[in-house]
Amino acid sequence: RKKRVVFSGIQPTGVPHIGNHLGALAQWQRLVKEVAAQPEESRDELYFSVVGMHALTVPQDPVRLRQERRDMFAVLLALGLTDPKTGAAVFHQDQVLEHGELAWYLNTVTPVNRLMRMTTWKSKLVTLRNAKSEDEIDDSMLQLGLLAYPVLQAADILLYKTTHVPVGHDQSQHLELCRDIAQVFNRAYPGRRRDGKGKGKGPFRMPEVMLTTHPRIQSLRNPLQKMSKSAPSEASKIYLTDSPEAIHSKIKTAVTDSIQGVTWDPENRPGIATLLQIYEGYSGEPVEDIAKRYTGQRGIMEMKADLAECVSEGLRGFREEFARIRTEEAYLREKEREGADKARATASRTMEDVRAAIGL
Ligand code: ADP
Ligand code: NA
Repeated sequence: RKKRVVFSGIQPTGVPHIGNHLGALAQWQRLVKEVAAQPEESRDELYFSVVGMHALTVPQDPVRLRQERRDMFAVLLALGLTDPKTGAAVFHQDQVLEHGELAWYLNTVTPVNRLMRMTTWKSKLVTLRNAKSEDEIDDSMLQLGLLAYPVLQAADILLYKTTHVPVGHDQSQHLELCRDIAQVFNRAYPGRRRDGKGKGKGPFRMPEVMLTTHPRIQSLRNPLQKMSKSAPSEASKIYLTDSPEAIHSKIKTAVTDSIQGVTWDPENRPGIATLLQIYEGYSGEPVEDIAKRYTGQRGIMEMKADLAECVSEGLRGFREEFARIRTEEAYLREKEREGADKARATASRTMEDVRAAIGL
């Protein structure tokens, strides 16, 4: 088995909902479990980062950002990602200054046209054009930081000589760009071989996508929309810190349909399908098997009650740990420092190679 280096980042958006959990963070937890079982000498390296610098590509309120950034960090700790048996680095991207430095060097080899073709950038343009007429769009609405966002993301990944990046389908275009930037950079700046005899191969490794097969969790109020932090209805999403009472009430009032019993039929019964996917996510039992248990007239009600219990119990350990550590500011700061130091140890070695290769 070849040792993997895994990097993944999440925005500092405060306490995540169960969509973020099942869609992204649960995979991080699975990786941690996997690595904890590996022999120490050939353990995969794990880097999990709260990417504060990315958050600034949209307007932020400083007081709120600081709070949500620390909430997210505490969430990662409470999810058990810093298991000492894994050596995983859980850290704030903005505390490892090498991210910004490398992003700048990568900017110098990245064609602007390539960035203007990214779907995230294009959809921002479309949103603006729908909101305003062409000549109302003024220069201050389109920032360089948003255009260059994928370059910073490439820097995040390449800084750790990452081999595997767990990303959703929506991010594969960004990873493609990252690989292209790495290749162009390696060709432009091959450096010297370690033994000093001849040209090197450049400082970066080619990262691969680690495709995640998670379901997209839909809103509890409108099963045709995804569960999203920005949705105004609080009842449409379950936060990882919700109390058992809140979980029960949100699931009880979740929109379903008037068909009797529970069946797995995502096309015709999207509300029921959402609940079944959440149930599978927190119980590990396949959706079809769960559906089979609830046939009678009260099937949906019974399934909702059991699901609420399952989610509530599934999150109990997390909930208690989060409540315990979130107010321990000194402890959190210490963990933040530890994580950043660990990440920086790798990042600074990569930057030595990079600076040597480019002649700085
Ligand atoms: P939100 O849409 O709530 O703002 P983000 O866009 O910040 O969430 O996404 C954070 C991570 O959570 C990403 O990996 C994203 O793919 C995942 N994610 C977000 N919403 C869902 C959802 N409803 N179902 C599954 N995964 C989701
Ligand atoms: Na989003």
